[in-house]
Order: sequence, then structure tokens, then C-alpha cells
Amino acid sequence: MQQLKEQELNQELAAEIDFRSEKYKDAYSRINAIVIEGEFEAHENYIKLAELLPENKDELVRLSKMEQRHKKGFEACGRNLQVTPDMQFAKEFFAGLHENFQTAAASGNVVTCLLIQSLIIECFAIAAYNIYIPVADPFARKITEGVVAEEYTHLNFGEVWLNENFASSKAELEEANRQNLPIVWKMLNQVEDDAAVLAMEKEALVEDFMIQYGEALSNIGFTTRDIMRLSAYGLRAA
Ligand SMILES: [Fe+2]
Ligand SMILES: [Fe+2]
Repeated sequence: MQQLKEQELNQELAAEIDFRSEKYKDAYSRINAIVIEGEFEAHENYIKLAELLPENKDELVRLSKMEQRHKKGFEACGRNLQVTPDMQFAKEFFAGLHENFQTAAASGNVVTCLLIQSLIIECFAIAAYNIYIPVADPFARKITEGVVAEEYTHLNFGEVWLNENFASSKAELEEANRQNLPIVWKMLNQVEDDAAVLAMEKEALVEDFMIQYGEALSNIGFTTRDIMRLSAYGLRAA
């Protein structure tokens, strides 16, 4: 019942948004680019992970192909609104996570790679898509609904692998969390104003991200106390 009311409210909100206004399209040029770049990074990262984890190669290659499809879907969303994505902005936006993934991959630190891609980037995507869907234009809503369902399976891949290797991964996960969670916080702050134009609230994004990320850490094997401690590292960037 509550959910139904929320859905109605969101639909009213979406009905009020002028998707063709210059203000909306300007903000969309950056948000859309972030999403396209995020899917591109994910595509590349899963190809790299397939090299690092030969026993999971087929599945990881399959995930990388899904990410490529997602990218194409979001490119279509931009075209549909006649928006040119600002890819330069998006490259810089992802630079921190990109560099840390590359460094970890070059050193064969597969646990760090999994934390960055299958936990942080997937949780970031899931949070953003969950908050976007109710206020998206009808074309983008359909595409995003299909994408988010698949992102949950990518998050699940990371959770299962890290759970199976929890004892040997724990220390590296803690260090990777310490290095990368503050970057996500900066990214959320950086996107706040543009997201607001799209009727996406930063508080809702942060909340959804922390719920997904906390649940993932719990599924991997961390205790509630560990999760509180790990989550607190995000605040250091605030
Ligand atoms: Fe994706
Ligand atoms: Fe994904």
C-alpha cells in the first residue's frame, strides 16, 4: 500500500519533469555520460577479471558482454533526448576508481579488483538506477529497469567469490575499502547538483548505496560491527 502510494507520487513527479528543457538536457549530458562511462569501465574491468580468474573466465566474459549492452542502451537514452554525453567529464569522474583498478590488476590483486568492480561500481550503479527509474522518461525507464536487474547478478558474482575466499581476502578487502570508499563519496558529492535536476536526491542515492554495499559485505561474511567500521571510511571524504 505504502509502496503503491510512493509509486503514484513518483509518477506524478515524473509527469512534472520537462525532459526536453535545456536545463534538464544540460544536466543529462553529464549524468548520461557518467552512466555510459560506468558501463564501459565495467565492460573493461570484467574482461580484465576474466584474465585474472581463469576458472571463472566464461562467466566473466558473459558479464562483460552484458555491460557492453548496457552501454549501448544508455547511449540510446541520450540520443532519444537529443543529448550529447560529455564523455570528457565522465572520464575524469571515474579516474580515481579507474586508476585504482588498473594498479590492482597490474599487481594481480584480484580481491581489490573485485571490490572496486563487483561491489563498489555495481552498488553505485544499482543505487543510481533504482533512484533514477521512478523519475526517468518512459524510454529510459524501460531500459534502466532491464539493466538494474542484471547488475544485481554482477554484484552477486562478487559476493559469492569473496564469500568463498573470505578468510584469505579479508585483510585486502579492508584495505581496498579504505582506499576506495572515500572516492565514491566524492563522486556522490560531485554529481549532487546534476542529479537534483533529474529529480534524484543525493540522500536517497547515499542511502541506497549504503544499503546495497552493507548487504554485500554481510553476504561476504563481515559482521555488523565490521560493516559499521568499514562504512565509516566513506565519511572521511565528506
Ligand atoms: Fe551494467
Ligand atoms: Fe554490472
